[in-house]
Amino acid sequence: MNITIVGTGYVGLVTAAVFASFKNKVWALDINEKQIENLKSGKIPFYEPGLKELVLNAIEKGNLQFTSSYEQAMAETEIVFICVGTPPKDNGDYDLSYVYKSSELIAQYLNQYAVIVIKSTVPPGTNDEITKIIKSKTKIDFDLASCPEFLREGAAIEDSFHPSRIVIGTESSKAKRKLLELHKQIPGPRLLCNVKSAQLIKYAANAFLAAKISYINSIAQICEKIGADIEKVSRGLGLDPRIGDKFLKAGLGYGGSCFPKDTWALISFAKRLGYNFNFLKQVDEINKQQVDYFVNKVVRLCDGSVKNKKLAILGLSFKPDTDDMREARSILIINKLQKMGAKIFSYDPVAMTRAKTILKDVNYGDNPYDVLDKSEALLLITEWDEFKNIDFKKVRKLMKNPVVVDGRNIYDPEKLRELGFRYEGIGRKIQ
Ligand code: UDX
Repeated sequence: MNITIVGTGYVGLVTAAVFASFKNKVWALDINEKQIENLKSGKIPFYEPGLKELVLNAIEKGNLQFTSSYEQAMAETEIVFICVGTPPKDNGDYDLSYVYKSSELIAQYLNQYAVIVIKSTVPPGTNDEITKIIKSKTKIDFDLASCPEFLREGAAIEDSFHPSRIVIGTESSKAKRKLLELHKQIPGPRLLCNVKSAQLIKYAANAFLAAKISYINSIAQICEKIGADIEKVSRGLGLDPRIGDKFLKAGLGYGGSCFPKDTWALISFAKRLGYNFNFLKQVDEINKQQVDYFVNKVVRLCDGSVKNKKLAILGLSFKPDTDDMREARSILIINKLQKMGAKIFSYDPVAMTRAKTILKDVNYGDNPYDVLDKSEALLLITEWDEFKNIDFKKVRKLMKNPVVVDGRNIYDPEKLRELGFRYEGIGRKIQ
């Protein structure tokens, strides 16, 4: 099939590469010409395991092409995916201007019937506005659909080839047939519904997962107060198949490009409908409190003050296997500690380049030991594998003060205490 992908950000580029790998002819379009030039030579704008190989392979086979021209990308298209960003506004609302602008341009260059699929995360109902925009610009027949993505960064390729479900939302049977045909090589259950249901599934799923995380972080607070161990409690919950063991990892709370934004968006969307989504407001509030709770813990373990103390931050990205810094907990934590006068030294396996454009006055090292030298506390923020295997005997000798504050519960408390560290995790028994 001839496919056009509008937007070569995270979702667009992965979608383009995956459909091209099934021998579809894919045009990936972006108005950012520099990004398009880079992509033509196989330069991927972000870190995602396996994506570069997939893109290069598809380019080589002639199934994936990049352009900034709607005319070129739309010439023979049968299915167009809108994958442009919907960034959050300051009031928690979402900016749909890129979705509307791209819909207008798609309509302008439409040559024949096509299915126009919204993959960007948009509030249910946005399709009415998009239909209006397209109809005002073209007389050519089209159908609208929504296929939300559920990709996890760092595992996007695996998730694309083995998705938990494929949601196809459309009111048109012709569009439904085309989209089922397009997805036929991808395994997994199909869920067919109308456009609004598809869009709500995406928001509701992300908000639910965010809620699970805030729930377990609340239980972690109780654990810490009574001397219970959240790791055991979480396992005890997860063994109940009605609860499930996923997304019950206590830590610093959720970040990234989806959970915070989608939670705010659903609260704001509900408000416009006249519904006060108090439950989700609490989920968001608990997520914010988790940062203060961690910073207070650091201050306490640094004997009441971090002023002029060298703190070693391990991990900056919002989670491992990505260089994405969007809503990363590290930003909030570092800003708070810097305000208290701490000197921040940090290392991350891939996110330092991005972090340098966001964080100020941070010293970066070439490896964990670099930043730990003469430090007064180790703060584990992102659970990269590289940090799980740190040589703590060596670390003990390097550090000025043997304090470890483990924001993701990756270390063995007993082992660290035996080595002479003052260790605290999240919701773990304090001795
Ligand atoms: C998420 C959804 O999983 C995906 O389906 C959707 O399409 C996009 O948003 P992603 O943002 O890549 O994916 O990351 P995910 O692995 O879901 O983690 C989100 C955040 O929650 C991270 O900050 C992570 O550290 C945190 N998290 C996750 C926890 O704190 N505890 C957990 O148990 C799981």
